[in-house]
Amino acid sequence: MTTLAESKKKSIELLNKAIADELYAVHQYMYFHFHCDDQGYDLLAGLFRRTAIEEMMHIELLAERILFLKGEVEMKASEETKKVNDVKAMLKMAVKLEEESAHSYNLWANECSKNADSVSKSLFEQLVQDEERHFDQFDVEMDNLKKFGDNYLALQSIERSKNIGAGGPPQA
Ligand SMILES: [Fe+2]
Ligand SMILES: [Fe+2]
Repeated sequence: MTTLAESKKKSIELLNKAIADELYAVHQYMYFHFHCDDQGYDLLAGLFRRTAIEEMMHIELLAERILFLKGEVEMKASEETKKVNDVKAMLKMAVKLEEESAHSYNLWANECSKNADSVSKSLFEQLVQDEERHFDQFDVEMDNLKKFGDNYLALQSIERSKNIGAGGPPQA
């Protein structure tokens, strides 16, 4: 049987691993946001920005739990930001990131459960729901891009021009 101290140590380790993955996702999605915005793809620019903000809120929840367990919050991204500018490659990366996060959090929820830390377990389960929703949102956009090809991107640019022409700001 694991002791209380061992159980806390393991949870803190898993929560910090999650923070590292979330930080990487925030950096990568903001990078995607800047480039989609620059290329005039407002729908995707907005989706990446909103998702990055949600991942940042995940970091907050994870950090609060670490501090409650009297651990230290390690703010290190798990990976360097990749310089990917092609929309199809961006969506492919985002879908994979979300799928992997959901999988990791499912495994870590089980580990916390085995270590008798039900609050960290519930937190990971809550995050799985968000990551699966993110996965679905990126997957839908990937399908649209496959179905409509360049027209999909052209429509987003036209939409921006229409908004600007009507005197409104670009949608983000
Ligand atoms: Fe997340
Ligand atoms: Fe996510």
